[in-house]
Amino acid sequence: MLTGPDHLEELAGKRLPRFLFDYIRGGSYGEETLRANRGALGELKLKQRVMRDVSHIDTSMSLFGQAASLPFGLGPVGLAGMCARRGEVQAARAAEAAGVPFCLSTVSVCDVGEVAAGTTKPFWFQLYMIRDRAFLADLLHRAAEHCSVLVFTVDMPVAALRYRDFRSGMSGAPGLKGQLRRAMHAMARPAWSLDVGLRGAPLSLGNLKPVLGSKAAMQDFAGWIMRNFDPSVTWDDLAFVREHWQGPLIIKGVLDPDDAEAAVGAGADGIVVSNHGGRQLDGALGSAEALPAIAARIDGRATVLADGGVRSGIDLMKMLALGADGVLLGRAWAYALAVGGQAGVAALLQGFDRDLRAAMAMTGCNRLADIGPHLLAHSSIESADG
Ligand SMILES: Cc1cc2nc3c(=O)[nH]c(=O)nc-3n(C[C@H](O)[C@H](O)[C@H](O)COP(=O)(O)O)c2cc1C
Repeated sequence: MLTGPDHLEELAGKRLPRFLFDYIRGGSYGEETLRANRGALGELKLKQRVMRDVSHIDTSMSLFGQAASLPFGLGPVGLAGMCARRGEVQAARAAEAAGVPFCLSTVSVCDVGEVAAGTTKPFWFQLYMIRDRAFLADLLHRAAEHCSVLVFTVDMPVAALRYRDFRSGMSGAPGLKGQLRRAMHAMARPAWSLDVGLRGAPLSLGNLKPVLGSKAAMQDFAGWIMRNFDPSVTWDDLAFVREHWQGPLIIKGVLDPDDAEAAVGAGADGIVVSNHGGRQLDGALGSAEALPAIAARIDGRATVLADGGVRSGIDLMKMLALGADGVLLGRAWAYALAVGGQAGVAALLQGFDRDLRAAMAMTGCNRLADIGPHLLAHSSIESADG
């Protein structure tokens, strides 16, 4: 599958029922930050360098003690298991084959055990702070059996409003009305309905089965999340997480250098510079805008990952040039999964590998350590103006 990022999104839109496609592509409120993520990356220009013997390009690195063949991984995407039949297992397999980390969301369709059964190596697990600490401790113990790294997401003290979900029946129309609207969208996508809706059942939130049961309907999830996400959480709560998680810990959803400092001070091994893909605070900085100041402040004391708007190996290169040690993909892999299942995600990862190598060659880099802010070009038109 040789296709560019916009085409992949378009193809996913043809495959998925509208309520699901809107849920994935949408952002919060006026979607300004969603646009800022792509906009900030698009405005950055790379310096072309020539005649530098780039015949030995190496994209490998070590992430939290594990070898990775590329400087990125698949970030947590809730309900990704609805993009393809038992989707998280398919995506995790593709990531494992490509030698990059896969992070399972708390709110995945397949639970940790199912993903572990379908893969051979430990993967990462993403955690939301949930009020019921006994359930949280149990969830962390289940994750610790199969997962090597914990990604603790902190940018959702409350769930932001997403108008698309409201309109589509994903969150806004409770009860029969929402069910009917979603059923109509599903009927317009018979291939998805058969392959995922029917043969991929149950489409419940696997990790939350102990509290929700396996038959809960979509609106029960939304209600449960609203009631159980804990807005009182502070850095002190990291002690609770640490008590139940001994491995590397990453704080995801940081946009401010002071918060990054606090995360490292509280014992995080890494942070993810992220605005949740423009799905939380609308009007917040695009990730690429926030990244340089955070990378400078952390200055190698912890691993700095970034996400938001990354759709190609070139975007990935730009995030690395801005100071990220690695990148997480969100929508890009969800769309690839929708379009081609495991093979679709494998093709996406190959494309990122190919494009990153090409970008490294054309900017004169052989190793990831060669990539840095010196590769970012400033337009001479702007300089002349200023
Ligand atoms: C459909 C969807 C579901 C998501 N679910 C989660 C989640 O469960 N946990 C989490 O920490 N982040 C979640 N995110 C945020 C992603 O991990 C990531 O921060 C974001 O998608 C990056 O932006 P991008 O999609 O433009 O690459 C989700 C994003 C999307 C698009």
